[in-house]
Amino acid sequence: MNIKENVINELCSRWPNIDRDVICQSLEVPKDKNMGDYAFPCFKLAKTLHKAPNLIAADLEKELEGSMMFDQKQAVGPYLNFFINKEWIAAHVLGQVQKAAEEGKPFGSSDQGAGKTVVLDYSSINVAKPFHIGHLRTTAIGNSLTRIYNFMGYHTVSMNYLGDWGTQFGKMIVAFRKWGDEVEVKKSGIRYLVQLYVKFHQEAEKDDSLNEEARLAFKSMEEGDEEALALWRRFVDISLQDVQKVYQMLDVHFDSYKGEGFFWDKTQPIIDELQEKGLLKDSQGAKIVDLSDDDMPPCLILKKDGSTLYATRDLASAQWRWDTYHFYKAVYITGMEQSLHFAQWFRVMEKLGRPWAKDLVHVPYGLISLEDGHMSTREGKVIWLEDLLKEAVSKVKDIMMEKNPGLENMDEVSQKVGVGAVVFHDLYNSRIKEETFSWDNVLNFDGETGPYVQYTFARAMSVLRKARDQGIDVDGDLNGVAMDCLTDSYAQDVIKLIDGFQDKVQEALDKYEPYFVARYAVALAEAFNRFYHEDAILSADEKTRDARLVLTRTAAGVLKEALYLVGVSAPEKM
Ligand code: ARG
Repeated sequence: MNIKENVINELCSRWPNIDRDVICQSLEVPKDKNMGDYAFPCFKLAKTLHKAPNLIAADLEKELEGSMMFDQKQAVGPYLNFFINKEWIAAHVLGQVQKAAEEGKPFGSSDQGAGKTVVLDYSSINVAKPFHIGHLRTTAIGNSLTRIYNFMGYHTVSMNYLGDWGTQFGKMIVAFRKWGDEVEVKKSGIRYLVQLYVKFHQEAEKDDSLNEEARLAFKSMEEGDEEALALWRRFVDISLQDVQKVYQMLDVHFDSYKGEGFFWDKTQPIIDELQEKGLLKDSQGAKIVDLSDDDMPPCLILKKDGSTLYATRDLASAQWRWDTYHFYKAVYITGMEQSLHFAQWFRVMEKLGRPWAKDLVHVPYGLISLEDGHMSTREGKVIWLEDLLKEAVSKVKDIMMEKNPGLENMDEVSQKVGVGAVVFHDLYNSRIKEETFSWDNVLNFDGETGPYVQYTFARAMSVLRKARDQGIDVDGDLNGVAMDCLTDSYAQDVIKLIDGFQDKVQEALDKYEPYFVARYAVALAEAFNRFYHEDAILSADEKTRDARLVLTRTAAGVLKEALYLVGVSAPEKM
């Protein structure tokens, strides 16, 4: 229970003749901090209590006498302003942290999701296509939301819905048959496949018959031709193997890699059902679902030649997810250029009468661009995610070499900080905002960045290490900890932020916006750094020192957890 919930409970028990809802709705935080931690306006009560608001405020003030929770309280006109006792705040918040530890649960976590499964579709790479910087956001947001859902007690299923079906695989097959070189495949994996794909297009410009050949090759795949399918499977394997390097760097894991290639031949039942329910319309030989009543262009279900489309496969795949997991929510994370696609087939599911269609959620995000202009996936201008992450790691290593040349595990730390910097930066703003990637912003150790938070965590850990080295017990319980040593504003700011952790995580989950957690981490790091600079820790008198060490330990734990929830790891030394 956080401070506010406690305050409400206390007010309810002190003011039995006021409705709990009224208390919850009325309680305010005054703009001017000096007025109080909370203000309670009494206008609304005047009618029910048949009294002037200022008299009510005065009465209510008296009824708070003798409570441990409140310090100064003062009726000012129709308002009752009051402060919460600072020792009570410290004892309460640190007590909550200790309680969580005793129960073996991370502080701030919850079991609200018990018994519920959330299926998250993210990263969802395209086979034999570049895994480029544009995929960073879906991967980072999806991973963070997965961790947040787990933290709140949900069971999650992470799906990498491979883009591994469609006419481009016919092209790949033709290209591979003609020019494929095993040595190159071994050496360059997916990058070589992309080269072959580019070569196909160059050659097809000169020789149109290649396109026809490719069409036939894809057709043979759909007809189950073993040789064609074996090649296709190789493309999938090569791509998957290659991207594992990136997933490993990011510490991202998937429960399923079932992609479009798994679902294309499971589309028939949905197509039949659309037909039976009279939803399927002919349109110049193709089959569509008309969505003009919903002000949307039609959803394409079958091409002229009878082959399935992206939307058809999504319909079948959603049905499979429902049949397999009975999800509480199925979340899809993609660039916002796909918003219409999702809106369309979600609507088709509704038209089919699926009650769970309302639990399909599209989480769109804006484009990433590079400082020197638009991100382009056109030939040559692709920035591979792997290269970007490696560059981040090497840049961080240079910085660390200067800052702390003697650091043990230099490579491991550079890895965590470099990758963490890129991920954190990606999650720091609302996902809809277009993002410009600039190394100066990403790697600024003093800015609102991952490295800054990581550095703060490492600083806290270093204080604790030093204390241990001096033989001080920093891991004990709260028994005998002097809460009155944690009442200054620096300590209180840290404590209040810790108190607000779960609310931020909840907000991130409700809005599918990891940035609430990322920004929270920066705010807590800033507050901790102020505390660290203003309140001497190890050189304070014993009683104060011990209390501040407990706060240091607690803040470090929450910083680490917040970083974890946005997919960033926290090295203990930097
Ligand atoms: N492979 C697609 C792309 O890269 C994303 C797939 C998203 N998931 C889905 N179920 N449609 O654009």
